[in-house]
Amino acid sequence: MAGFSQKRRRFIQTVIVSALSGWGLVKFFSSAPPQESLLATVEDQRIPERGALVFRQQRFALIRERGQVYALSLVCTHLGCTLSVTSRELSCPCHGSTFDRQGQVTRGPADRPLPHLRLVRQDDLWLVYG
Ligand code: FES
Repeated sequence: MAGFSQKRRRFIQTVIVSALSGWGLVKFFSSAPPQESLLATVEDQRIPERGALVFRQQRFALIRERGQVYALSLVCTHLGCTLSVTSRELSCPCHGSTFDRQGQVTRGPADRPLPHLRLVRQDDLWLVYG
């Protein structure tokens, strides 16, 4: 009788541990990605041709090049300093990395391009999400 009770207890423990492990794995792999938020709403005419409109506090720039508008993160992919924008490139004051105006690395130590932020056109406005 005692052997049966011990087997039963062990079985119940195994079922509980398996259920908790399964639940933990499901939770871990199904966690939702972080939500995007609206960073800015910008009138199209504020973005200069072949220039950039810099949002230093939110750390991104809206760039217009050859008729196209895009938003680049100004967070250096090396260690996260805020980049400076010139008419030719984006440069990092911390360790000297540079990026072209498309966000590709032109000089390290950074080794990853700058992320482009999501832009949505609404009439003559640009909505920037990040
Ligand atoms: S943080 Fe930009 S180069 Fe190091």
